[in-house]
Amino acid sequence: MTASISSLNKKKHKEKEYFISSLMARMTLKEKIAQLNLVTPTAGTGPFKTKRALEKLKDGTAGNVLSLRGTAESIREKEAFAEQTRLKIPMLSALDIIHGYKTVFPIPLGLSCTWDSVLIKKTARIAAIEATAIGYNNTYSPMVDITRDPRWGRVMEGSGEDPYLGSVIARAMVKGYQGENLDASTSLLACVKHFGMYGAIEAGRDYNTTDMSRVTMYNVYLPPYKAAVEAGAGSVMTSFNDVEGIPSTANKWLLTDLLRNQWGFKGFMVTDYNAVQELIPHGVAADYEEAAEKAIKAGTDMDMASECYSMFMEKLVTEGHIDTSYINRACRRVLEVKYDLGLFNDPYKGYQKGLAERVILSKEHKAVAREATQRAMVLLKNERQTLPLRPDSRVALIGPFLDNKAEMLSMWSPDGVIDSVVSIVAGMKKQFREVKTAVGTYMNDDPALKSFEPFDSAQQAKMIAEAVELAHQSDVVVAVLGESRWLSGEARSMTKISMPACQKELLKALKKTGKPVILVLLSGRPMVLTDIIPHADAIIAAWRPGTMAGDAIADVLSGKYNPSGKLTMTFPRSVGQIPIYYNHKNTGRPFKDGDRGQFKSKYLDEMNSPLFPFGYGLSYTTFRYGDIVLSDTIVNGAKKHITASISVTNTGKYSGEETVQLYINDPVASITRPVKELKDYQKVMLAPGETKKITFNITPEALKFYNHHLVYDWEPGLFNLYIGTNSDDVKEAHFVWNK
Ligand code: BGC
Repeated sequence: MTASISSLNKKKHKEKEYFISSLMARMTLKEKIAQLNLVTPTAGTGPFKTKRALEKLKDGTAGNVLSLRGTAESIREKEAFAEQTRLKIPMLSALDIIHGYKTVFPIPLGLSCTWDSVLIKKTARIAAIEATAIGYNNTYSPMVDITRDPRWGRVMEGSGEDPYLGSVIARAMVKGYQGENLDASTSLLACVKHFGMYGAIEAGRDYNTTDMSRVTMYNVYLPPYKAAVEAGAGSVMTSFNDVEGIPSTANKWLLTDLLRNQWGFKGFMVTDYNAVQELIPHGVAADYEEAAEKAIKAGTDMDMASECYSMFMEKLVTEGHIDTSYINRACRRVLEVKYDLGLFNDPYKGYQKGLAERVILSKEHKAVAREATQRAMVLLKNERQTLPLRPDSRVALIGPFLDNKAEMLSMWSPDGVIDSVVSIVAGMKKQFREVKTAVGTYMNDDPALKSFEPFDSAQQAKMIAEAVELAHQSDVVVAVLGESRWLSGEARSMTKISMPACQKELLKALKKTGKPVILVLLSGRPMVLTDIIPHADAIIAAWRPGTMAGDAIADVLSGKYNPSGKLTMTFPRSVGQIPIYYNHKNTGRPFKDGDRGQFKSKYLDEMNSPLFPFGYGLSYTTFRYGDIVLSDTIVNGAKKHITASISVTNTGKYSGEETVQLYINDPVASITRPVKELKDYQKVMLAPGETKKITFNITPEALKFYNHHLVYDWEPGLFNLYIGTNSDDVKEAHFVWNK
């Protein structure tokens, strides 16, 4: 059986080789270079606006396109421009489909808080089904950049700070987009981005430099990219930053030695937007020609939007600066992926008249969006069980986001259908007897942001007074506050990530009424909430919730859904603590808040601990953890495994889901190791009073790390094992594992 499968695969592989080789034998140099060129009609394509992007697709100087928009029919018409070219090679038609296409799910940072890879995979599958029906065949997702700095606006696009969880999610998304077979009609080519280390840009300022040791790269930043490649991602995108002094787009070590030679990546490498040209301001190329030469030699196959390849590659070859083998190599990689996608059989795969109308925003897709939004929400505070609210509560619903449907989406959901969004007010009215609303505040009063958000202080005072009046007439206040969607995403770095002063003023005034105050926080990043915590009895992080915002938020407030989300990024107490993350090193002078000692690793004016740690999230019920039981405390030999069990009891009144988290620490090793690292987790549903035993299997795989020589292995000795409800609140056990 296995033999026949492998001979079938070999046969298929041979057919593909033959097809591509024969095609390439017929291609001119120009035609090959066109395969490496991706243009976009929505914005300028670099300084070489010789012709409009669509003309380039027609005359065959560009073989791929980004951001064609319109109806399925109008997109198909433009994709058919490929048929006007000599060899009729189908084009890659790409779009940034980041957290759903027309059915919009919560932002990726929110989705990651579900810790639910099955659900996340489903959201990617749905995005692929909707997008392929319109005619796209390539998405620029998942973004798997590990992020430890919430000032960076792009933290909203990723899965947070942890390499283990980040890898689980990276795999799920690739599998979701690409499906079982890449050539299936609903399979969308995934593009893993941004390779690499983009999440580590200094000071959280977008497009800035990164610099770190290889040990940190290998242990922290690289695992999710590697996981995505191993899951079969057909393409990878370079990042805007430099790595060890060489911009990633020209970094041969990164793109060729590591990605291809060590990890075995077989797909193609596309640049980020205009990144070839940007080698010039980066300071590693004097002109466009040198930029193109450096990029292709490093292993960059496709040039997104800069057109340096299209303009200069032929000249570089004829003048002998570049060997044709570089062009052939890159062209072959692109054609192979087109072949794998099945585009040579059907250039418009996925498209069927009337299909888009049937699948987009279907009932089933919306149901998954609602579930995802419920599960993404993280309950940060719930004093005196303020939540859930009784359905007969008279609710004062206050804030500037209430009927603003667009604000439920994000900077990265430009294709979301605003009209289809369930606004917060609409959702709340379905589930509560009386819901009255007041705007209460402007979104922001920071003069630096006035181009995004206007402010008028006289009007603000009136709005607060109205909101307070409404609060007095109600049983409970639900204040929906936070950041507007334009403050997170690409090029949206911020130094102030606390709640705007005008919103704080409103919240304080509401709290003074003596009514219970629930804060529903909308944001694309962890925010500094330290000074607002006392002014809310309950707080829920709802991120940017997506199409089903209002229904899902009402589900959580009413208790129809008991929140289960857990943070995947640490919430700092103050901006000065950033970067702050749970898997930090111990240092030679460790310090825990409350310890004494002057010459310790600490701040004079701030605690070391975060406001909310990684893995944190409350439920309407409570869980009690028993003690950890290990099957063995001394283990000999690599082939063994041990089990760690713990019983978890629902000690509250509601059924609820807990995410039981397992961390390991290697206290003595050849290099300094993090105080804790997530190694596994399980989600468990418990009825009130119910106890379940959770058992984890541990093999030496969980003990491995890249050592100083970048060898991935484990070192024998003592290990600390932790299991708990978040990275900070854990039970502890120990074992010795000998080789
Ligand atoms: C972003 C990428 C995106 C690309 C294409 C760039 O500015 O960094 O994440 O995929 O544009 O839109």
